[in-house]
Amino acid sequence: MSTRILSTSPLVGPALAELGARFPDLRIEPFRSAKWNLALPSAEALVVMLSEPITPADLDQAPKLKVIGTYSVGVNHLPLDACKARGIAVVNTPGVLTDATADLALTLLLAVTRRVREGEALARSGQWKGWAPDQLLGPSLAGKTCGILGSGPIGQAMARRVQALGMTPRFWDRQGHGGEVDFGAGRALRQPLDELLPSSSVLSLHCPLTEQTRNLLDRAALEQLPAGAVVINTARGGVLNEQAALDLLQSGHLGGVGLDVYEGEPAIHPAWFTAPRTVLLPHLGSATTETREAMARLLCDGLALALG
Ligand code: DGY
Repeated sequence: MSTRILSTSPLVGPALAELGARFPDLRIEPFRSAKWNLALPSAEALVVMLSEPITPADLDQAPKLKVIGTYSVGVNHLPLDACKARGIAVVNTPGVLTDATADLALTLLLAVTRRVREGEALARSGQWKGWAPDQLLGPSLAGKTCGILGSGPIGQAMARRVQALGMTPRFWDRQGHGGEVDFGAGRALRQPLDELLPSSSVLSLHCPLTEQTRNLLDRAALEQLPAGAVVINTARGGVLNEQAALDLLQSGHLGGVGLDVYEGEPAIHPAWFTAPRTVLLPHLGSATTETREAMARLLCDGLALALG
């Protein structure tokens, strides 16, 4: 079997089919299916989704491999060191999903704080008895501080959004502390975690999952947040210790949690299903039609370059 490009999905839009016309042979097979395994040894380019981890052992099975493309900005599911050692290029999709992902983080923030899930359920239930002064109250956002973990493009886009709500954005990032981050609509302090957390009524996660950020928000870190703080995660599940977040939500220390990503996704810790003041989404950060088409175009342009 001869396969030049092996993808687990046709992607959204025409970009992959066009690439296949330019560089035959393209095969689309489910990840780790018998046909995918059979095609791997002849593949020069692999295309995978963020939920499909590639291992160094896979690279051993793919002696012709020149490039791995992931249909995501995150690359934590790829063996970067092993790729580098073998001269295999890695292509991802930075830049084009910035607004979509920040929009979704903002959606979660507003949905959690304005209790959209409970309100929608009440409105649909047929049990609503009418307006009441204390019905489904949530916290205001204007005048409060939003801590943002990660000062890359998505973190900056989130800063612009929360500033528009009247919040003060502040950053932590892996590169260092001190100084300010120019987020395109102003400047915000960059602080060490133990300074950022105590002042953050909202904490929004926008950093990649690396050895440095894994379990960054553990119990001790979450306990530094002020009582009633809201945590939003559209980054990667492994950055937030979910058991600690669940415990602190139950104890009332956290005022709410909005999640688009999970430690063991697609499995979701069952305790989230009944947890109070939570909104759960199934990893929809980049899920707009235009964004997914732009991701496919960017990815395929990168693959074409690598294939020569
Ligand atoms: C990505 O592309 O890595 C994001 O998780 C999309 O939501």
